[in-house]
Amino acid sequence: MIVRYEVFDEDYIPEEILFRDQQMSRVAFNLKPAEHGSRPMNMLCLGPPATGKTTVMRYILNQAHQSIRGVYINCQIHQTKQQIFFKIFEGLYGYIPPPGISFQKLYSSILRKGVEEGQVLFVVLDDVNLLPEKLLNEVVYLILKGHEEVESFKSGVAGVSTDAKISALLESKTLSVFHPDEILFPVYDFDEMYRILERRAEAGVIGGKVSSEALEFIAEKAYEYLDLRFGIHLLKMAILNAERSGRDLVEIDDAQNILDTSRSAFFRKILSALGSDEVEVLVHLYTSRSRYTGDLYREMKGKMGYTKFFEIIRKLENLRLIDTAVKYEKGLRRYVIRRFRSEELLSAVDELLR
Ligand SMILES: Nc1ncnc2c1ncn2[C@@H]1O[C@H](COP(=O)(O)OP(=O)(O)OP(=O)(O)O)[C@@H](O)[C@H]1O
Ligand SMILES: [Mg+2]
Repeated sequence: MIVRYEVFDEDYIPEEILFRDQQMSRVAFNLKPAEHGSRPMNMLCLGPPATGKTTVMRYILNQAHQSIRGVYINCQIHQTKQQIFFKIFEGLYGYIPPPGISFQKLYSSILRKGVEEGQVLFVVLDDVNLLPEKLLNEVVYLILKGHEEVESFKSGVAGVSTDAKISALLESKTLSVFHPDEILFPVYDFDEMYRILERRAEAGVIGGKVSSEALEFIAEKAYEYLDLRFGIHLLKMAILNAERSGRDLVEIDDAQNILDTSRSAFFRKILSALGSDEVEVLVHLYTSRSRYTGDLYREMKGKMGYTKFFEIIRKLENLRLIDTAVKYEKGLRRYVIRRFRSEELLSAVDELLR
């Protein structure tokens, strides 16, 4: 059995993206004007983690029409105005800008290049919800308002976000140039996860096979965590487990054996995104008997302000550690739904953070 390890890498783009036809054709439709030298429609791709947002956008950038100059920016890595525009410069010129270049110079070089080449600049801002609000507004505005500085410059922006309410953070000045078409990426259901994992196994293992019991087990776990990425990680580890013992058939035992270590790797990744206040709220949500956010807030006994508490709730929801929903009961009340078994989450917190 030969394992093509790269097939399980985070940045692997599958040959065929399943169950995302709707989203892909909507993005393509929005980009259509740019194929004719006009400004494309701006977009926001919204959905929980591991729903294919990055994969779809990278796939589309890879095969964009020649009149579109696509630049992909990961806002998790590029977190300042300077870094983001450096990256755009690099995308256009193919080399990094000279050190010490002023922002004004950087900006106008970008605008002029777009016009010279007769191309439309299309910037994908991935994980854009990780940018501070002010920076988010400034960056989007600067990219889209370029034509005020260099005539006939044309551009479009696609923001990618796990926070569905990101447009609430946009100022009216930004909205005046950025009317995004919102494209939703729902969580995959069990069958979809199974089929995607099956394809991945076929692409990644040559001269061997992953048994359907093993695949089913992995898809069940991925579905339980509502996280396809976790499933792909499990699949890879199970395959490596079989490879290590020289077997060509990956069996359910291989997947079961690596579940515990994979699970703690899964939690480590999400929990590492939390500050100590956030961990405190998380632990409270997983230990209190209350469900309503109002009660939960009161129980924290003034350890933090109301706004802060709700910001944290929203962050925990974005990270899919909890869900929230509203219910009409003497007025509208929001309540918290735990995504994981309490013991499981609390022991991960204990193990990893204390
Ligand atoms: N429709 C699909 N077909 C095949 N593989 C997919 C599909 N959707 C997602 N994947 C795989 O699942 C993993 C997560 O996908 P991706 O990184 O695109 O998610 P995302 O929505 O950008 O998540 P996040 O918000 O956490 O960044 C990747 O390994 C990707 O290859
Ligand atoms: Mg992504």
